[in-house]
Amino acid sequence: MPENILVTGGAGFIGSHTVLELLLAGYHVVVVDNLNNSSGASIRRVKELAGEHGDNLHFHELDLRDKPALQKLFTGTKIDSVIHIAGLKSVGESMEKPLMYYNNNIIGAITLLEVMDAHGCKSLIVSSSATVYGWPKEVPCREDFPVDAINPYGRTKPVVEEMCRDVQRADQEWKIILLRYFNPVGAHQSGYIGEHPRGTPNNLMPYMQQVAVGKRPALTVFGDDYSTGDGTCVRDYVHVVDLARGHVAALRKLSDPDIGCEVYNLGSGKGTSVLEMVAAFEKASGKKIPLVMAGRRAGDGEIVYASTEKAERELNWKAEYSVEDMCRDQWNWAMNNPDGYESPDP
Ligand code: NAD
Ligand code: UD1
Repeated sequence: MPENILVTGGAGFIGSHTVLELLLAGYHVVVVDNLNNSSGASIRRVKELAGEHGDNLHFHELDLRDKPALQKLFTGTKIDSVIHIAGLKSVGESMEKPLMYYNNNIIGAITLLEVMDAHGCKSLIVSSSATVYGWPKEVPCREDFPVDAINPYGRTKPVVEEMCRDVQRADQEWKIILLRYFNPVGAHQSGYIGEHPRGTPNNLMPYMQQVAVGKRPALTVFGDDYSTGDGTCVRDYVHVVDLARGHVAALRKLSDPDIGCEVYNLGSGKGTSVLEMVAAFEKASGKKIPLVMAGRRAGDGEIVYASTEKAERELNWKAEYSVEDMCRDQWNWAMNNPDGYESPDP
């Protein structure tokens, strides 16, 4: 019997790509999402992309904090493992509305774990973030570096990580993998699913994409006086399809009876500066990106990239796509869907 995997947040950017890879790998998938930051169109398009596997995807529009609804779902469907991706993720918004972030990200996780426990489902993968490292003193960031989150969104991640460790310590039937993503970008090669930020994007790639399609006049570069090769910040960009496959690798690892509660970085292991990213995007799109050089963005750190050794060794996973691939696929998504999921189907 194929395994039944519940994916929370499966309509979102990372979730939709993960659901597709799971379906293609032969899993049956149940998605729970409140569509707070996503659209049902992503689910429909994932079903189409999955072809003959599309019928193995079932969607429930519900909020994770709605415990009776979640209990009903677990009572009606046998779930083998859960991939918990749902969450709010905007750093700026979390500084304005910290309680909304703590409420959604922490109560959501508690409710999910309680319902799983009550139904004897103790196999879990959780989305964490490189944000837990804050701005590390050295790179590459290893999983054993101290946690030092620097904003309310970031602080919700170590709280959930610690909660998972405590739950597993108390009951060793639990098997939990915490995945710390670096900077996910790009889109599925089909140009059919991708990221659809609401309002003004905060992150580099979606902002640059909107400049390239003519929605915004220029990209503001936040700081060119860092001690890096060209003075701009360095990050670890990872193709969202690679990241999605990292979840399939983690799911396979959950069959290891001794896994306990483990944490893995998912990144490319390579650092790329803002200006290098701009050059790669210009090449992929054939568009000139007008730049406005500005001061540093508050709260930004200089250089962050992942050590990927542990994921390579223990998950047998390694990012395959280059920055050029990420830019090509991001541009393909943008061209096919100038208004994201509000665009007609390409
Ligand atoms: P996203 O906003 O596209 O997807 C998150 C999904 O969760 C959305 O579809 C949203 O509607 C849903 N959701 C939120 N709260 C919910 C709730 N209470 N109940 C049900 N559904 C809910 O974001 P994403 O980029 O796909 O990020 C997914 C996860 O990865 C988040 O946990 C985020 O913190 C983490 N992460 C993201 C990045 C990034 O740059 N995108 C980096 C590191 C970690
Ligand atoms: C940001 C979040 C981080 C989150 C991550 C998700 C902050 C301080 N951190 O990280 O918690 O996990 O997104 O991917 O918000 N840049 C520009 N101009 C822009 C946008 C960005 O120059 O318009 C620069 C930034 O200064 C940074 C780089 O591009 O150096 C990448 O920025 P971004 O995509 O926001 O990611 P992070 O800063 O790594």
